[in-house]
Amino acid sequence: MNPGKFTFNSFLTGHNIRISPEVKHSCLEGLKIMRKSRDQMHDDRHVLGILKNLGKFMDESREINWSKINYELLLLSICWHDVWKSGRVLNSGHKALYHQFYEGLGSMRVFGKLTKYHSLDKKLVRKVKYSIRKHSMFQFLPTRNTETKILKDLDRLEEWSIPRLRWALGAISDWHTMSPRLVNVGKFYFEHWMLPRHTKKNYFQWTTGRINFKKPAYSREVRRLLHEFARKNFNLLPRPSLSIERQTIYPESEE
Ligand SMILES: [Fe+2]
Ligand SMILES: [Fe+2]
Repeated sequence: MNPGKFTFNSFLTGHNIRISPEVKHSCLEGLKIMRKSRDQMHDDRHVLGILKNLGKFMDESREINWSKINYELLLLSICWHDVWKSGRVLNSGHKALYHQFYEGLGSMRVFGKLTKYHSLDKKLVRKVKYSIRKHSMFQFLPTRNTETKILKDLDRLEEWSIPRLRWALGAISDWHTMSPRLVNVGKFYFEHWMLPRHTKKNYFQWTTGRINFKKPAYSREVRRLLHEFARKNFNLLPRPSLSIERQTIYPESEE
């Protein structure tokens, strides 16, 4: 195994986390599904990105008493939270809202169905289902446990990853021909949700600090991409393809 490669196992050993063989097996099953994802924004790289940030969070912050965390709950929730999205391609603006609304429930159901064969503790399964359901965007009741709050914060932080944005676009053979309505939905989401909410309304200070750090570069990248999209579509200039190789892990540093 490549010694520098970040994997689920290297995360566990690097942070001295012990989980039962059944939970580990189930986490790896979730990752396997994510690896075959049809949605490049929500694949195994996204899950590994969350785990990488979780490692940083644990190393850098004392906001949480890490010895009290239920890692079986947290890791299962991280590995399975986007399995529903992994089976779908978002190709129209109409679907975007539905995806954001339904994804938590959808992934919760997939998890429930597939983990029947993983001999997991029933109470744990119930808790993971709750976490997965709660991670999606529109929630009206407060979030109950710390593990779910960690998942939500780290999932938000991942949205500010420039490599993730680039490889998602790079996976579309000619992203400039994307539906302008979908591009507008993305723009609206960035301006009216990510910018005002993600930079303030996180559960943990550490997340807010990381997002504020990433915000300038990410905003510049979004502006550049929107400009490029408008230029290609409205001036009908030649369209160079944005070719970005699929990587199995995040680059060591994206800042
Ligand atoms: Fe999600
Ligand atoms: Fe996610």
